[in-house]
Amino acid sequence: MIPISKPLIGQEEIDAVVEVLKSGMIAQGPKTKEFEEMFAKFCGVKHAVAFSNGTTAIHSGVRALGVKQGDEVITVPFTFVATANPIVMEGGKVVFVDIAEDDFCIDPAKIEEKISKKTKAIIPVDLYGQIYKYDKIKKIADTHGLGILEDACQAVGAEQGGIKAGNFGDVATFSFYATKNIATGEGGMLVTNDDEIARKARIFRHHGQDASVRYEYLELGHNYRMTDIVAALGVEQMKKEDYITKTRIRNAELLSEALSNVKGLILPKALKGNRHVYHQYTLRVVDEFGHTRDELMEFLKSNDIGCGVYYPKPLHLHEHFRKMGYKEGDFPVSERMSKQVLSLPVNPFVTEDDVSLIADKIVELSKK
Ligand SMILES: Cc1ncc(COP(=O)(O)O)c(C=O)c1O
Repeated sequence: MIPISKPLIGQEEIDAVVEVLKSGMIAQGPKTKEFEEMFAKFCGVKHAVAFSNGTTAIHSGVRALGVKQGDEVITVPFTFVATANPIVMEGGKVVFVDIAEDDFCIDPAKIEEKISKKTKAIIPVDLYGQIYKYDKIKKIADTHGLGILEDACQAVGAEQGGIKAGNFGDVATFSFYATKNIATGEGGMLVTNDDEIARKARIFRHHGQDASVRYEYLELGHNYRMTDIVAALGVEQMKKEDYITKTRIRNAELLSEALSNVKGLILPKALKGNRHVYHQYTLRVVDEFGHTRDELMEFLKSNDIGCGVYYPKPLHLHEHFRKMGYKEGDFPVSERMSKQVLSLPVNPFVTEDDVSLIADKIVELSKK
């Protein structure tokens, strides 16, 4: 089976974890600090704050932006649920805006009609590993005085105009979940150039305590800390980031080349100025293909080729959000994409021969 995802874990990660285990400091300590400093430098930002996962990093970011009971926060329905839930956790209202077809990210043309006096922030998502249309959205945010949280959970190493993901908002968040490009099992990072946002995030992560004064609770907080065991994995993974990202991009480009003449497939594209890191290589299967997306998925799986649908149902059609008043037809692009998208393996274990096999099988089905 060619898996859709597989973490690149080697002896380096094993040794680094063993070293932490032997050190006696297995909670948050010097390794976490090292990972934070390494990650901040990589992104080119002032602060990186490590979290237990991407969801807790987003929650802290939403809170640090000052979202409170009754505030409205704009985001997309075509994402993982963890983008939207932190808004609800802070008592805010989730206001969805549909995505654009060319990058699967928030459609700048549809934002302003959703802005009200209560709107506090926008959470665009760098879906599949491509940074959203920042310039247009930043302009809207500035006009209306809104904060931006860049959900870069899928986009470590992505760039726009030569600038790394993590710089496209007042605050940005990353995930190191097992299937992500940089994987530590569970893990997350919040990055920002804003001293106050970083300070708030550190306090919220640590039961409302300032790291310098223990058992002095300044405000409400959680235990959202990363352990040094996880951070040790993160440090070693980041040393491999260049290889991981370049291999994914190579596989994506080879797949696109091999599939370019297949009718009925719309292939993913890096928009001008973007470096897409292909957390997912996601194509669209449309009518001219002659088979449905689900038929293609079953065919590939029966040929031992892993693939997946991210996401089969947009958030607004789930009971959790339907209860907030959303219904079918509200976000037609997201609804259509959820029926057409299929992600193929481009992880660093995928060889050029694997890519040829995947493409050959797709071509074979297209001719049936
Ligand atoms: C777009 C997006 N946002 C948020 C998350 C949440 O990250 P985590 O699973 O690390 O909590 C993920 C990953 O799962 C994601 O893909």
